[in-house]
Amino acid sequence: MKIQKNCELWEYRSNWGNLGQLNLGDKLNYLCLLAHLAPSSHNTQPWRFFIDEANKIISVYLDREFVLSASDIDGRQAVVSIGCAVENLICGAKYLGMEPTIKLLTSDKKKVKPFVENEPKITPLLEIKFTEVKPYLKLEKIVKAIFNRKVIRAEYDPQKPVPDEVIDLLKKTTDEKMTKLHLITDSLRRLGIAELQSQADAFVINSPKFSKELGQWFLPNDTANFVGMPGISFGLPDDQALRMHNGLLEKTALQPEDGLKFALAGKIGLEKSPLIGIITTKNDDIKNWLLAGRSFEKIFLTLTDNDIQVAVHAGIIEVPLIKRIFSATLGTTRHITVLFRAGYVKKEEDKNRPHSPRLPLAAVILSDKS
Ligand SMILES: Cc1cc2nc3c(=O)[nH]c(=O)nc-3n(C[C@H](O)[C@H](O)[C@H](O)COP(=O)(O)O)c2cc1C
Repeated sequence: MKIQKNCELWEYRSNWGNLGQLNLGDKLNYLCLLAHLAPSSHNTQPWRFFIDEANKIISVYLDREFVLSASDIDGRQAVVSIGCAVENLICGAKYLGMEPTIKLLTSDKKKVKPFVENEPKITPLLEIKFTEVKPYLKLEKIVKAIFNRKVIRAEYDPQKPVPDEVIDLLKKTTDEKMTKLHLITDSLRRLGIAELQSQADAFVINSPKFSKELGQWFLPNDTANFVGMPGISFGLPDDQALRMHNGLLEKTALQPEDGLKFALAGKIGLEKSPLIGIITTKNDDIKNWLLAGRSFEKIFLTLTDNDIQVAVHAGIIEVPLIKRIFSATLGTTRHITVLFRAGYVKKEEDKNRPHSPRLPLAAVILSDKS
């Protein structure tokens, strides 16, 4: 299969030779590559990095131009995405024998909101300083999973549960104080969550502001864009992906069946998945969003390593009324921050969908410290 230019980064694993023998500069670049392969809301890739080789520091920034102004008004999804990237980076660092010390640079929630004119575009979020220790080689399979990981928005087999030993691994990914993982396997509660998700999706499709924004990131299958989601990653053939893209952007009328299919796919996906996971946080702030992202990516990589697929559903979290109903259903006063489903695909071929695009590495590594 020919690899599109915007998907080339996924092939870079083999380009680095013997990782243990890389010089410090190359190691730090490699860690940024691992971070850049993380999942992000609408595949916006809102992270930026600055490498200070002399002091062994990687600074992590949020580019506010890549925070979704309609569906992510607080910047929560963007910061959770950066948490995912940080988890990849830290896993890679430990694997290479670089122990990280992380410093949070801001707790000001105004600084992570979508960009508006006359405000800074780039927000420094974290500084990660490394000291050399022994490589933690047990992490090799997790680093490998970073290159294999992808969201699969397909139907999973409800008859094939996630094995208990994998569930036990997932339970170790949160600290139970700041972040907590709630696992739902019974069909009744899955049905309830699926219903709420379909209401959130219907809200998105029917709200011009939300649907236009989605259209900018929901792309035709042959897109050369380096950010955004080709329709194939939703399982759509070329004609339907193009129709959905144009319909959401109001270039052509959105076919009623396309909108309905979109909401139904999310609903059926959740209803049929043997496992739904919800990460709640103690507080609704930058620190907790980053921690939730780190836990989610840990979960995602563990599931990938066990050949179990994952899809994310942020609609329930970012449509306020639905979120309130959902919190009540879950019986928690904690903050619902990530919702995902996991399972084994019903149709094996769904696993072969291509990886999603990524910006070239040079585009996310800043040349000046902001
Ligand atoms: C914080 C966050 C929120 C997301 N929300 C959704 C969502 O609501 N619906 C969806 O289909 N995918 C969602 N995703 C998955 C992204 O769209 C996906 O990670 C991105 O397109 C890149 O694809 P990849 O993870 O396969 O590399 C989310 C991912 C993250 C990290």
